[in-house]
Amino acid sequence: MQTARELEVLRKAVDALRSDGASIALVPTMGALHEGHLTLMREARRAADHVVASIFVNPRQFGEGEDLDAYPRQLAHDSELLEKEGVALVWAPQPQEVYPPGYSTNISVAGISEGLCGGDRPGHFDGVATVVCKLFNQVRPDIAFFGEKDWQQLAVIRRMARDLDLTQPHVDAIKGVPIVREDDGLAMSSRNAYLSSEQREQAGALPRAMRDAIAVLSKGGQADRPLGNLREVLDVSGFDSVDYAELRDADSLEPLPKDNGNARLFVAARIGGTRLIDNMAVE
Ligand code: PAJ
Repeated sequence: MQTARELEVLRKAVDALRSDGASIALVPTMGALHEGHLTLMREARRAADHVVASIFVNPRQFGEGEDLDAYPRQLAHDSELLEKEGVALVWAPQPQEVYPPGYSTNISVAGISEGLCGGDRPGHFDGVATVVCKLFNQVRPDIAFFGEKDWQQLAVIRRMARDLDLTQPHVDAIKGVPIVREDDGLAMSSRNAYLSSEQREQAGALPRAMRDAIAVLSKGGQADRPLGNLREVLDVSGFDSVDYAELRDADSLEPLPKDNGNARLFVAARIGGTRLIDNMAVE
């Protein structure tokens, strides 16, 4: 497995992988890899001849007062995990390689970036769209994999690829992978490492409360009451606040007053300083 830290090295390594007409899958990450990320790598391996994984803690998607400095960085350990998964190339640039002095371009995907995490984290999805567009141009993959854990992120990236007529990858080659969960149902996340053992136990209330809400929502009634209950359950379970608990259309992300047959429940809640997100289909 090769590691590239400069764009010139990356381009040569990608060209070498492609030399015999082989296909390339890209899995963008910010590192601190867990089983969720590794599941993406496995899907990518199945879909293409070679997998390129990027590890880049993208400063542009972190807001003022967020955890950019605290975000775990462990390239050596991540590289060992990626090697075991048969990843061919790791792209781990320094911030100045991605955003050199004078860098001035921003990609902003209107509508779908607003509300949910975009409402709580202004500018976050501009940072995501911008870096993912750059990663696509740097690696020019045939196919790319993203987790459904960040459902809105996946929707933003697909909309960007469609709107900008991207071809490497084409919008149809941007694949979503179902959420990988811990035994108690908590969605795996690099940020779970911030939780104390007590908070980690309390955090299991999030997926449980969501499943309970979905059992009610799937009967087709108004969403207000089950969503109100969900907030109360999180409150008594040790969560400090709920940023949002909303029912939305899975594709358009339009808010819904009740299940329309294609509804998804989206929740972001805080425990201590840690913000956890999750989403589930109403079915
Ligand atoms: P990061 O949080 O490292 O996640 C990298 C990819 O792994 C994302 O597509 C994310 O949705 C997926 N992922 C994380 N936890 C998962 C889980 N429990 N199950 C399934 N997939 C999971 O998301 C980012 O990085 C960044 O925003 C990035 C796209 C790399 C742009 O900087």
